[in-house]
Amino acid sequence: MKVGLMGLGTVGTGVVHLIDQNGESIEKKLGEKIEIKKILVKNPIKKRTPLAEGKITFNPDDILEDEEIDVIVEVMGKEHPALEYIVKALEKGKHVVTANKEVIAKHGKELIKLARQNKVHLLYEASVGGGIPIIRPLKQCLAANKIYEIKGILNGTTNYILTEMKEKGLDFEEVLKNAQEKGYAEADPTDDVEGFDAARKLAILCTLAFNKFILPEKIYTKGIKFISKSDIKYAQELGYTIKLIAYGKVDEKDRLEAWVHPVMIKKDNPLSGVKGVFNAILVDGNAVGEVMFYGQGAGMMPTASAVVADIMDVKNHIVIQNGCEEAELLPIVDTVSKYYIRLIAFDRPGVMSKITGILGEKGISLLSVVQKGVLGQTAEIVLITHIANTGKIFEALKEIQNLQEVESIESVIRVEEE
Ligand SMILES: NC(=O)c1ccc[n+]([C@@H]2O[C@H](COP(=O)([O-])OP(=O)(O)OC[C@H]3O[C@@H](n4cnc5c(N)ncnc54)[C@H](OP(=O)(O)O)[C@@H]3O)[C@@H](O)[C@H]2O)c1
Repeated sequence: MKVGLMGLGTVGTGVVHLIDQNGESIEKKLGEKIEIKKILVKNPIKKRTPLAEGKITFNPDDILEDEEIDVIVEVMGKEHPALEYIVKALEKGKHVVTANKEVIAKHGKELIKLARQNKVHLLYEASVGGGIPIIRPLKQCLAANKIYEIKGILNGTTNYILTEMKEKGLDFEEVLKNAQEKGYAEADPTDDVEGFDAARKLAILCTLAFNKFILPEKIYTKGIKFISKSDIKYAQELGYTIKLIAYGKVDEKDRLEAWVHPVMIKKDNPLSGVKGVFNAILVDGNAVGEVMFYGQGAGMMPTASAVVADIMDVKNHIVIQNGCEEAELLPIVDTVSKYYIRLIAFDRPGVMSKITGILGEKGISLLSVVQKGVLGQTAEIVLITHIANTGKIFEALKEIQNLQEVESIESVIRVEEE
């Protein structure tokens, strides 16, 4: 099997090394040898692994027009020109393996159709959960189930930040800086900390689990930048751990509820014990019950493990997915949840009754209200609501923010239901 590799960064280098290290056992399992024939890169002065010697090219057509190459592995990242190269490869009748969540989340639907028209496979196991097998289990092993719900920690960087904040009692900015120094966070961390990366992965999972196509930008997404060490401490006092959760569910009206949001998770929920850069995905199916997928959601060798398995699978891949409809999205304002709200108010008589009054007018009842302490002229107030309509919460927050007595609303976090 002759492979054209597009990209020789973290993942591409892992792929080259894994095929070299495990070549013999891969050949035994596959019945043929995997040979990386050519490797596309961009930077002519970058030092490369010796295993790439004699294979490097800077011209994509050297790979795309090579009749001998039957599998293209796209591990360049970004939407363009990766999308154009994948399209050309499929049109040329080449199988494509990719780790590119952006391309799959935004264009997966058309690309799968194009692959089918050209009688080739498009495989993308590494695009969600890095080394964790989740795409193939959803497409094959769990295919007989009706999936009720998906709940996951899909981004290692944010999970690392939240874990460090909790274990070391540090603030977001401090941990982010450490994470960048250690290489766990990008120089520009926006995609991770704002939840966009998790939303792309959630879009891919929703398509597979519910057979509903959803563009990642339509998913309501709130990241973790606003979370402070006080929120982490209060969550602990209340018996919760804060996690950035990607959630998908189809309701009785066949509408898709999909969001990425910080959630206070009960300590006995298996997701609460997922620490550091690890990822985990809970899938609830009507026959199988709840299953959890856990492991390293990124990294050179874990991701290469998924990519090389896809290359091997090209030969015997079963296609069950038969196209999917566009999802009707349940608007975020129509979802319900308990909410944790932390705000700073001026320490004046009557402030509490004004806040609870606004919530009461919107039909939002409170599970608890605690004044956490006085900081000069202001006091920190933590409210936990009973299950409430998110739209009503948004309306109430707007009114509370406008109260003269309220300085700021610091945090709004969903709280897991019992
Ligand atoms: N890193 C992970 O742990 C991980 C996990 C899961 C999924 N992924 C996905 O895997 C993909 C690759 O990630 P990565 O971390 O390996 O990225 P990376 O380290 O930045 O490597 C990207 C590689 O692609 C090459 N490249 C980029 N644009 C190119 C262009 N226009 N023409 C030719 N070559 C180009 C780069 O060339 P130069 O070497 O010349 O710069 C580099 O070799 C992304 O889609 C990412 O989301 C990554």
